[in-house]
Parts: sequence; structure tokens; C-alpha cells
Amino acid sequence: MIGGKGMSQETVLILDFGGQYNQLIARRVRECGVYCEVRRYTTPLAELKAMAPIGIIFTGGPGSVYDPAAPQADPEIFKLDVPILGICYGCQLLAHNLGGKVTAAQSDTAREYGKTETFFDTKCKLFQDLPERSVTWMSHGDYMERVPQGFTLAAHSAACPNVAICDEDRGFYGVQFHPEVAHTENGTAMIRNFLYEVCGAAGDWSMGDFKHSAIQAVREKIGQGKVLLALSGGVDSSVAAALMAEAVGSQLTCVFVDHGLMRLNEGDEVEAAFRQWDVNFIRVNAKALFLSKLAGVSEPEAKRKIIGEEFIRVFEAEAKKIGRIDYLVQGTIYPDVIESGLGDAAVIKSHHNVGGLPDYVDFKEIIEPLRLLFKDEVRQLGRELGLPEYLVTRQPFPGPGLAIRVIGDVTKEKLDVLRLADFIFRDEIAKAGLEKTMNQYFAVLTNTRSVGVMGDGRTYDYTVALRSVTTDDFMTADWTRIPYEVLDRVSVRIVNEVPHVNRIVYDITSKPPATVEWE
Ligand code: XMP
Repeated sequence: MIGGKGMSQETVLILDFGGQYNQLIARRVRECGVYCEVRRYTTPLAELKAMAPIGIIFTGGPGSVYDPAAPQADPEIFKLDVPILGICYGCQLLAHNLGGKVTAAQSDTAREYGKTETFFDTKCKLFQDLPERSVTWMSHGDYMERVPQGFTLAAHSAACPNVAICDEDRGFYGVQFHPEVAHTENGTAMIRNFLYEVCGAAGDWSMGDFKHSAIQAVREKIGQGKVLLALSGGVDSSVAAALMAEAVGSQLTCVFVDHGLMRLNEGDEVEAAFRQWDVNFIRVNAKALFLSKLAGVSEPEAKRKIIGEEFIRVFEAEAKKIGRIDYLVQGTIYPDVIESGLGDAAVIKSHHNVGGLPDYVDFKEIIEPLRLLFKDEVRQLGRELGLPEYLVTRQPFPGPGLAIRVIGDVTKEKLDVLRLADFIFRDEIAKAGLEKTMNQYFAVLTNTRSVGVMGDGRTYDYTVALRSVTTDDFMTADWTRIPYEVLDRVSVRIVNEVPHVNRIVYDITSKPPATVEWE
């Protein structure tokens, strides 16, 4: 696999039993400076042993350990002499395997959901130096009726006497709550205690090391081969391209399809960022082509489809000009890998299809150099590689670009109006220092024109809508409470500086019921 940990790095194994917060556990471990990988509970023990983990975390899961069909761990895992932290289902699994008894909670009191006041024994290494009393996030219907021999109770709540158990001699710990979620106060500190106090981690996970080992692995893999990458200008593809550029230089060709639907100066910025490397950088000017294909089309899904198809066609034509290609690079990142089932063959195929490209381009193999990194790690790697800050902190931008922010049919004139209005909005947000208070913000050119007055004359011009959302995951989002005076400055500047706009509105709808984008 390309881009794994460095040879000397310590690894924590996260054994996945199907819980909903598994990605978060991995995220927290990495935040604590320790490298980790998530593996399915079905992974053969020999493979897990080969990772030489310094610690193992059992995740939560939807099952009940006493159900014969429930996911089980290989019992030999308890004999590896490696510390284990079991979380929720993982805790019950630990108890069940080591001689304890887990049953369905008989009463509503022992079945706990949500924020729960919890009392800790701070002599237990897991809770060392933390408050004796804090809130944890519970979500369990099963209950440890009898804890295994050798274990002591290390935390309790009003409803449940055994919220946490530990066997310090063997380094086995179990918690019924979820330390990885933000609702658990001091949760990350508990994970840190497990890593550093129990597993003896040194905390050697750094992006600088990752960069060097990834570059070395890429060079070994590719040899003299030729590599192709579709650069979108987004963070992931840009960082993947920078890594490959650093590793194999002129063996890499980046194809950047400029469809003319990007924000102000964005195409030039992406191109400029790659001048520092000796790579083949092809910027295909396909602006006229995309505009002609989009002419008169106002239905949002039709626009998306046209843009997706045209993109592939243009990319394919460029790839054919290059001739033989050995490797195709994709900017897949770890959340995609975890969400789609932890990297087995079927998954690679689904990325294949999602990307759409491999079916059209003849190549030997796909390389995903970022497949072990979380988004903020990708940004950090981008910085290590010398990409400019505006590229690595870029907010998400939809593939179909401004075409789905010009409501109705798309023309060059409308795109130019939108580009300028959008730039002014972003510029004022930056000047007010508010970028970090919102996750995505942009302007939309509505299809509505209205009457206004400018100077002594009547105007009949476009309405621009401003949109900004604050969100963790983009599945739900709240509209951002931007201060009125900032909105006012944006409004005054847009109507004064952008021709054909005489009215500004601010979108105050959350998702749901609205979506982030207007189309
Ligand atoms: P919605 O509008 O669905 O947006 O609430 C959620 C997030 O997804 C982005 N988005 C897209 N990204 N192709 C993309 O690559 C698309 O067609 C697309 N549509 C929406 C949107 O910008 C937001 O971050």
C-alpha cells in the first residue's frame, strides 16, 4: 500500500465491530499523535499480529455479545500481551470473553442513552489526572451483570454500577460510554491516557515522517512508470498531485480541465501552485465547450449530468494524447475508505465507479496516496509539501462548480457577475476574520430580477443571494449568524461594484429543509 506509516512508527489497531463512531475513534487517536488503522473484526489474527500494535481498541457495534450471530473477536487476541480498550460493545465483548456476564438490561435505568453524569476512580490509569465526576455519552441497551475475574470497577453512574472496568495488570480496560464523541467531557484525555499511560506510546505520528515514507513508497512502486492524475483544484486532488510531483516529478502528468465554472482566479491559482515542480501540467481550456453544452439548460440535474460527462470526455481525450499510462492517481481519503468498508476489492471498484474515470482510460493500476489520511491530515501534508495556504484550506466546492450557483440557464455574463459577487463576499468574510466560524460560504445568482433605483434612474437587475453554513458533516447544517455590519458591507460593495445586480438577500434556511447548494 502506498503512503503507510513510517517503518519505525508505533501503531494502534482499532478493531471495528460496526459501530457508528469508529471513524471518530481513529480520529481521536491520531489527534493524540499516535498512528492507528481501522480493521474489520473478521481480519485474520495473523494479519493483526503482523501490524505489531502497541494497543488495541475494540469499537462499539450494534450487536449483543450473547447473540450467537454477533461479531466476535478471535479469543487468541487476549493472549497477545497487548493492552486492549473496549468501548461500549467492545467493552461487553471484553467482559463476555474473559468470564464476565452480559445481559440485556432489564430495566430502563440500566439501559442508558445520552448524556450521563458519571463518577470515576481516578486511580485507574484511564482516568488518571481527570475530574472524579463528569458527563459521558452513553448508548447501550446491554448491561455487564458480572464483571470478569481480575477486573475492578472504575466508574459508575446512578443507574449503572459498572460503567468502566479495568484489569491494570493485563492492561485491559472497558468503558460502556463513548469517549470518542464530543459529548463525553474529557473523552479525548481518556483515550490519551490509554495511549500514553497504558500502551506507553511515544507519540511519533507526524506529517513530516508520513511525507517522507509516502514519497519513498511511491518511488519504489512506480519505478520508471508513467502516472496520470485528474486535478480538480480541490484540496484532496491538489495534495495527491503535490505528493506525486515530489515523488516522481516529470513521470507525472496532471490534467486540469478548466471548465470555466470555477471561482475568480481559481484556475490560475491552481496552475501557479504546481509551477514549483517539474511535472507535465496540462490545463485544458474547455470553457467554450462547457458553455456550449450548457446553453439553454436550466434543470439542475441535467446541468450536473452534462458537466460530469463532458469532464470525462475531455480527460479521456487528453489521456489518449499522452499514450501509455501505468498508474492513475485518485485523491481518496480515509473517511471514504472507512465508510465504504475498509478497503477490500469491492471498495476499490466503487471508488473506481464514483470517479468515473478508470472505465475510460487504459491503465494498469490505481494509486491512492492519501487513503490513510483524514481531511485535516491531508491539509497538513499539503503544507509540508509547500502548497500555498489558500489551496490547502480551500472550502468544499461542488464538482459542477458555479453552474449550479447560477440558477436557471448558464451564460458567460451570468458567470462573470456571480464570480465577482462571490469574490466580494469571501473577501469581506476574510477581512472580518470570520472564515473559521463557517464551513462553506458563497454567492448564488438567482434567476430573479427586480426593480431598483440607482442615481436617478430605474434599474431592473439581478438578485444575488448570499449563503453560509456552519456544519460538522454537511449532512445537516445551520445557517451562519453573520454579523449585520459584515452583511451590510458585502451588500453595499456588491451593488456598487458588480454590474447588473441591484438586490442582495441572505439565505436563512438550515439543512434540512433546504440543502447547502441552491441546485
Ligand atoms: P448539499 O447541497 O447537498 O451539499 O446540501 C452538501 C455538500 O456537497 C457539496 N455538493 C457537491 N459536491 N458535486 C460535488 O462534488 C456535486 O454535484 C455537489 N452538490 C453539492 C456542497 O457544495 C456541500 O459542500
